Amino acid sequence: MVKRIGVLTGGGDCPGLNAVLRAVVKTAMGKYGYEVIGFRDGYRGLVMNNYIQFKPGDVSGILDKGGTILGTSNRDNPFKFRVERGGKVDYVDMSDRVIDNLYALGIDCMVLIGGDGTLTSARDFARMGVNVVGVPKTIDNDLSATDTTFGFMTAVDTATDAIDKLHSTAESHHRVMILEVMGRYAGWIALASGVAGGADVILIPEIPYDINKVCDKIKERSAAGKHFSIVVVAEGAKSIDGDLVVCKVVKDSPDPIRLGGIGNRIAEDIERIACIETRVTVLGHLQRGGRPVPYDRILSTRYGVRAVELVNEGKFGMMVGLQGDSITAVSLEDAVGKLKSVPPDGELVQIAKSVGVGFGN
Ligand code: F6P
Repeated sequence: MVKRIGVLTGGGDCPGLNAVLRAVVKTAMGKYGYEVIGFRDGYRGLVMNNYIQFKPGDVSGILDKGGTILGTSNRDNPFKFRVERGGKVDYVDMSDRVIDNLYALGIDCMVLIGGDGTLTSARDFARMGVNVVGVPKTIDNDLSATDTTFGFMTAVDTATDAIDKLHSTAESHHRVMILEVMGRYAGWIALASGVAGGADVILIPEIPYDINKVCDKIKERSAAGKHFSIVVVAEGAKSIDGDLVVCKVVKDSPDPIRLGGIGNRIAEDIERIACIETRVTVLGHLQRGGRPVPYDRILSTRYGVRAVELVNEGKFGMMVGLQGDSITAVSLEDAVGKLKSVPPDGELVQIAKSVGVGFGN
């Protein structure tokens, strides 16, 4: 019988994490009478035994707060944990230590909230016999076993707001305005915000672009009397003959590639080929911060409650997800390691094309 559960938030932060924590703690303590231990800073807290014991009031007033009250880290993989000894860096498998810590604390089950990296480690702990339930988080919306991850809609809201603001200045100055958004190797944020904000060109990793076709679209608009254009580009977009643009490589991270810089590259190309003044806005971590929109608060709450119900039903090794209107549970074995990309012939791309959006192809 479950008496005590642990919870952590891992990977990059995202709006809605606190809403999940609130739902987990309230349901676990209020409905089922479990004790809840929260580990600080993702898997680092589990390895270093850094935790708090939740009291009911600890999750009051956090539903609308961005970030995570537990802290997080996208650098710490418990199976390849960075350790510095005598000035030398080593990567050590700390999974046995984690299991010892869980045993010593009397934790019957862990609720692990994170993206693909965090959930891959969750699957690996499940394989070692640890009772785990996963909750899918990421603004990128790139996890295949769920229609939507929480945090995505807030990022789309932020990006759409930026497009709305760029429109007026683009029009006043007769410029091309480029908005570079996040999303890693998937174009969901760019596509959704581009459609919502009425972008003229949307460039995503799933549809490699030809810069000449991008410029043709902009020139076509000028010829029709529209002397400004809005281009939304995903950080992972690439040209038909180019590579990903990488801003830096973080050596000790499970995912060392940090994307960024494609917006500036496109701006130079547009000024050179189409001869129109161009400016770039890189939205960056603004997409990860701030208050979750109501959709994400609701989804986070549904995920958090369902995760605890799975614990109560003894259904471990599972991840909660959204399929259509229903909250589902899928095996972590099936859920991780599969990138959910934008289908180039999918409905949203076709809709965008129908209203005149160019994809540079
Ligand atoms: O996965 C979420 C995300 O925000 C990506 O969209 C982005 O590429 C990456 O994380 C940025 O990571 P960091 O916070 O380490 O710069």
